[in-house]
Amino acid sequence: MPTLTPIALKAAMAEVSADIDAAFDHLLAIPEDPRARLYAAMRHAAIGGGKRLRPLLVRAASDLFHVDRVPILRTGLAIECIHVYSLVHDDMPCMDDDDMRRGKPTVHKAYDEATAVLAGDSLHALAFEVLADPETHPDPFVRVELLAELARAAGPSGMAGGQMMDLAAEAEGSDFDLATITRLQQLKTGALMGFCLEAGAILGHAPPEGRKALRAYARDVGLAFQIADDLLDVESTAEVAGKAVGKDAAAGKATFVSLLGVERAHAQAHMLVDQAIGHLVGYGEEAGLLRAIARYIVERDH
Ligand code: IPE
Ligand code: IPE
Ligand code: MG
Ligand code: MG
Ligand code: MG
Repeated sequence: MPTLTPIALKAAMAEVSADIDAAFDHLLAIPEDPRARLYAAMRHAAIGGGKRLRPLLVRAASDLFHVDRVPILRTGLAIECIHVYSLVHDDMPCMDDDDMRRGKPTVHKAYDEATAVLAGDSLHALAFEVLADPETHPDPFVRVELLAELARAAGPSGMAGGQMMDLAAEAEGSDFDLATITRLQQLKTGALMGFCLEAGAILGHAPPEGRKALRAYARDVGLAFQIADDLLDVESTAEVAGKAVGKDAAAGKATFVSLLGVERAHAQAHMLVDQAIGHLVGYGEEAGLLRAIARYIVERDH
């Protein structure tokens, strides 16, 4: 099945990263009033770092349905706003208490905790403001569908709910089994990734059959992604990962790696990627980016 060469994938990632950086630069222009510190903190979190995997997934899914460039970019910007907000709050002392993110000090370290809360809140809200803008898509039905899907993926039935379960996974005496960890990861990480694929289908007015394949791909890739993140926590270094490692084990947190062991976790991640690519069997070259991303997700080193 046609896939992108590593060089073409790298080029696509660089292009999306440059687009997202430019979009954040425009969105987060610093005002000349006392809110300047808030905008500076948001810029610190949002600009110049990260793999931009979620905007890339929006683009890859949109490739199947010939979507215009601006809707892809703005939807990618919205999901990256939510993702960055989730990282800012995830790093705070009340959650994972991390000092480094994307190779830089975390927002509460570079600024302060109150500013980090507000920077996260603001990025959260901006995501929906971006999607609601007619510039994102001329069809209001498309915009409402995107808004509803993103709200669901970010809230208690998605990322925030998964983060709550994640905190419970490291609580004294918790003994989460594999089914519970799988559910936790599907909410914590999978839901926002699922939005990216669904967004491509929404923007492209995809038929129900096309959405089914993308949802199956999203489920497998989302899980593989989080297994890879848990493996990085065990196998990588802070320099390469751009964030502290060894934290899950130190916190006694149940993860795929703690339950399966390193070797089986690798095998499971690769199996999920093969399965994800298998769901794209009905597509040709237009799914090349989706296939390449799936492989990259488990082969990445950061
Ligand atoms: C890290 O996500 C947080 C998780 C959901 C596990 P990424 O690995 O996509 O982080 P960035 O955006 O590249 O920094
Ligand atoms: C965070 O998961 C996921 C979200 C922010 C929703 P982790 O806590 O495992 O992410 P890292 O390892 O800090 O990037
Ligand atoms: Mg966390
Ligand atoms: Mg964390
Ligand atoms: Mg992690």
